[in-house]
Amino acid sequence: MENTAELKLEGKIYKLPVIEGTEHERAVDISSLRNDSGYITLDDSYGNTGSCRSQITFIDGEKGILRYRGIPIEELAERSTFIEVAHLIVMGKLPSSAELRRFSELLTENEMLHEDMKYHFEGFSASAHPMAILSAMINAASCFYPELLTSETMRTHFEVEAARLLSKVRTIAAFAYRKSLGLPIIYPRPDYKYTANFLHMLFSLPFKDYELKPEMVRALDLIFLLHADHEQNCSTATVRMVASSRANLFASAAAGVCALWGPLHGGANQAVLEMLTEIHRSGDDGSRFIAAAKDKQSGKRLMGFGHRVYKNYDPRAKIIKRACDEVLEKLHVQDPLLDIAKHLEEAALKDPYFVERKLYPNVDFYSGIIMRAIGIPIEMFTVIFAIGRMPGWIANFKEVMEDPQSRIYRPRQIYTGPPLNHYVPIKERH
Ligand code: ACO
Repeated sequence: MENTAELKLEGKIYKLPVIEGTEHERAVDISSLRNDSGYITLDDSYGNTGSCRSQITFIDGEKGILRYRGIPIEELAERSTFIEVAHLIVMGKLPSSAELRRFSELLTENEMLHEDMKYHFEGFSASAHPMAILSAMINAASCFYPELLTSETMRTHFEVEAARLLSKVRTIAAFAYRKSLGLPIIYPRPDYKYTANFLHMLFSLPFKDYELKPEMVRALDLIFLLHADHEQNCSTATVRMVASSRANLFASAAAGVCALWGPLHGGANQAVLEMLTEIHRSGDDGSRFIAAAKDKQSGKRLMGFGHRVYKNYDPRAKIIKRACDEVLEKLHVQDPLLDIAKHLEEAALKDPYFVERKLYPNVDFYSGIIMRAIGIPIEMFTVIFAIGRMPGWIANFKEVMEDPQSRIYRPRQIYTGPPLNHYVPIKERH
């Protein structure tokens, strides 16, 4: 294949290198274009811009493929666990038994929060959204581990720092939830594995441990696993952006949480459940809502549908839909919202509006129904997503830190404001 592209501007030809990835995805490298020609490239919302080279996750949105470090998501969902996958993503390989044991021990050693952090939780109002608490507390955690602030520690003790963040984020999330209900904090149990421990901290009573159901633990673990990374989405690109300024790992992850919160991104899982509840409450079978979602004036969208990258069924949505059926059956839960979701999906997949725009269910469409069956409140849905996405953010942070060529991220713009004009004293203004 030709390994340069030619661009003709004002009669002059610029040769631009063509880059090819492992899976033959191709890019034109324009990084020297501005210096050579004075032109920048304009790509609103980055729909066609590769912002980095990365070895973590591969997606083919046309074919509905997702792989972590080369391994298909379907195999990992079927045979692996969230912590094994976190090791794969963060450390770059599936762990041996000894490595998995060490990683799990590190998670257990780091599961407690500094006691003084408890006072920070008390400062939030009971109505605070747990995503706000999560972001603030992840950032606050860096105050208790000042060594995090040096890039030297990141280089020499990366595994420990990664385990520290992965473990503490789960404790912070559970504490945030207990705080929102005005309930006393439940400490983690060192004998529990990652996901079981999270459910324990969420739902136990002070003198009565929550009874763990294996199918619930497995279902939540699967949700974490399916969210573990998804290449350069809004929140991960944010983490890389912040990391590029050499901010520390906790600050970068806290920024990722903020980016994830929005309803067009991670907040969609909460929005899906709100949408389904609203449809159910109004007595609609979904048809009226679909009509509204197609009408641009209504301001409504079919939440959990559509994706910037997938123009085919999101492979995670397929896995999660199957898991949703299984979990609800095993737990003997009959949820009318699941029926509405299935009806909406069926209707949308036949509707020319959605077909022409290649809008399919994404991972958020069914995950909320599983979380509801487990008893997780709606406001915590995006927090669960954030816990799941942590390995991806950490691995992306690591790539930025370890790249000797990495420069601060600094996009350009095309200015469309007023031309040069001058300061007018207040008395002379109209
Ligand atoms: N319902 C109705 N119409 C939609 C939807 C939807 N869910 N999604 C896209 N469209 C329409 C748009 O109105 C647009 O129509 P037009 O061409 O007539 O103007 C067309 O499809 C293309 O949509 P864009 O907004 O340009 O697509 P984009 O790639 O920018 O957005 C996004 C992707 C944000 C995911 C969008 O599909 C959406 O808002 N979906 C609902 C929210 C959601 O589920 N987000 C979760 C994403 S997955 C994740 O973060 C885990």
